[in-house]
Amino acid sequence: MDIAALTETAKAMVAPGKGILAIDESHGTCKKRFDALGVECNEESRRTYRQLLITADGLNEGVSGLILFDETLRQKTDDGTAFPAELAKRGMLPGIKVDMGAKDLALHAGEKVTEGLTGLRERLAEYKELGAKFAKWRAVITIGDNMPTDACIMGNAHGLARYAALCQEAGIVPMVEPEIILEGDHTMEICYEVSVKTWKMLFAQLAQQGVAPEGTILKTSMILPGKACPQQADLDTIANKTIEGLKEGVPDNIGGIVFLSGGQGDVEATERLNRMNQIGGFPWALSFSYGRSIQRPALKIWSDNQENVKEAQAALAKRGKFNGLAALGKYSTDME
Ligand code: 13P
Repeated sequence: MDIAALTETAKAMVAPGKGILAIDESHGTCKKRFDALGVECNEESRRTYRQLLITADGLNEGVSGLILFDETLRQKTDDGTAFPAELAKRGMLPGIKVDMGAKDLALHAGEKVTEGLTGLRERLAEYKELGAKFAKWRAVITIGDNMPTDACIMGNAHGLARYAALCQEAGIVPMVEPEIILEGDHTMEICYEVSVKTWKMLFAQLAQQGVAPEGTILKTSMILPGKACPQQADLDTIANKTIEGLKEGVPDNIGGIVFLSGGQGDVEATERLNRMNQIGGFPWALSFSYGRSIQRPALKIWSDNQENVKEAQAALAKRGKFNGLAALGKYSTDME
């Protein structure tokens, strides 16, 4: 394993003022988002839309890399440039989602376990050839009655660790993503407990599999009250609690930490990241790996009129830039 090369990639992913844009929606998720806006979802419409995202001028100001889906990694721009090569030309790192989705966990109704280890070594070798520098594997942890169980957290942590080891063996930086789902009426205290427990179990599994922390990126959710919890929290409480929980559950020498947006509003997700970086006092780079909260304005403009490519690209680059500033603690809502 080339730890120096992995560390260098991880550092570039969370370089000061930079974070990741996720555009790795599966066909099913992409169809849902397109359907909601009346856009047909097929291979060509997905290519056209993702080309718009990848070729947005100024996106590289705040974005260090993009997570692609298998199909997207193989697609080309109108002029025949492979998407990973186009990203490299623009100074951004191509990443790839490699898990095969969250499936029902046997004997545990309502819980999920992420699959995709079978044949992963061979797929990673091909992705490396195609230019992927980092990968993503998402595990889903749901809070509810008697949930999550240790079986769910441990099963997912083990899968994440096995995936991460295969990535590092292949020279690809693993982004390990345990997402604590925001839906539900659970309190912020419960989210704190579940998050810290999940991170601790995950890092124990990663260590056991021999995964180098400095060549690994943690992608996770913020510590938040459930969406339907009557007791919501203010900006400072969210920022402080998230920092406190991460300090308790995550080792100091991880390559970096990035957040998913997971149903937060566009401005909310930026503001909360910004607040954490203003508070500071933690050992890791704290940045973003947002999907919806960066893409949303651009997707809306493009779906209203597919001629509006430049306008959509400007909206995308703007959210990229604002989140890049938030990674430095230099964003302000006045900029909106
Ligand atoms: P959201 O920011 O839309 O939650 O997506 C990020 C992601 O990649 C989840 O796996």
